[in-house]
Amino acid sequence: MHVLNASGCLDALTAPDTVAQLDAFVTKTVTPEPREGNAPVRIAETDFGMLNAIGLANPGRERFLTDVLPRLRELGLPIWVSVGGFSGRDYAETCEQLDRDDVAAIELNLSCPNVDEAPEGAAEILAACREVSQKRLYAKLSPHSWELGETVRAVEAAGADGLSLVNTLRGVALDAHLTPTLARGAGGYSGPALKPVALAAVRAARAATRLPIVGMGGVQSGRDALEMIACGATHVALGTVLFSDPFAPQRVRDELVTEAKSVGFESPDDAFCVAFDTVVKMEN
Ligand SMILES: Cc1cc2nc3c(=O)[nH]c(=O)nc-3n(C[C@H](O)[C@H](O)[C@H](O)COP(=O)(O)O)c2cc1C
Repeated sequence: MHVLNASGCLDALTAPDTVAQLDAFVTKTVTPEPREGNAPVRIAETDFGMLNAIGLANPGRERFLTDVLPRLRELGLPIWVSVGGFSGRDYAETCEQLDRDDVAAIELNLSCPNVDEAPEGAAEILAACREVSQKRLYAKLSPHSWELGETVRAVEAAGADGLSLVNTLRGVALDAHLTPTLARGAGGYSGPALKPVALAAVRAARAATRLPIVGMGGVQSGRDALEMIACGATHVALGTVLFSDPFAPQRVRDELVTEAKSVGFESPDDAFCVAFDTVVKMEN
């Protein structure tokens, strides 16, 4: 079981101590052109989680490849590049360029709630990227779908090597005058309130596939990570918690071992898929 950061929740170049606790670093989503992102206000605190409407602010593919990626490589751990775009072609072109690089995996962000989505479906985008890339391709999906199992089977058939579940849920916060706090109106809702939604998504996806799954959404503690594993996650990623606790990755790892023991498992991996009525034996 690997511990990763969730895309967009950690600036590796300014937080090397946090990066050192991870098994792999996942970049902020990279788009073909540079993006300023949405106008402020882009972040809002709510009672049970955080809303963001950053809008994929990033330096764009060219600067990422020539300037950012070489510096990330110096960190000495596997790099997963999160790729975004506004058409299947956008995604495929970035994947093609990354194919010559030594990145460990590509996470296709097929689910950002803060930008207008590509008109193609997740499976079509996956297929376009598969055609040009030999890298491990992870499909990052939205928790909004009621038919997640179907999407999972479709992206697997299109060549996905793994899944990242979940991205944020769409949410709105209102200020004292009942005006949306975020300039864009709605944003992505993350943090503790997302955990039950994420567990349901991981569990539904696991029922549909044997692919590796990076579980994320409200993971703050070793107990949360253990629940992800019980629902079928093979790896866990930490997002919002990193804004308040830069030592969360090591803490979660330590707690995970203790929590597993406290419910009778020799190792956290032994809890894999135990949250199913009928335990299907799967290779971890
Ligand atoms: C400030 C912020 C920026 C994010 N940026 C991205 C992004 O660029 N690409 C992406 O795939 N997900 C992005 N996410 C979503 C996270 O990667 C993650 O899927 C989500 O926050 C759920 O995990 P959490 O509850 O642990 O934060 C962002 C989340 C936050 C809070």
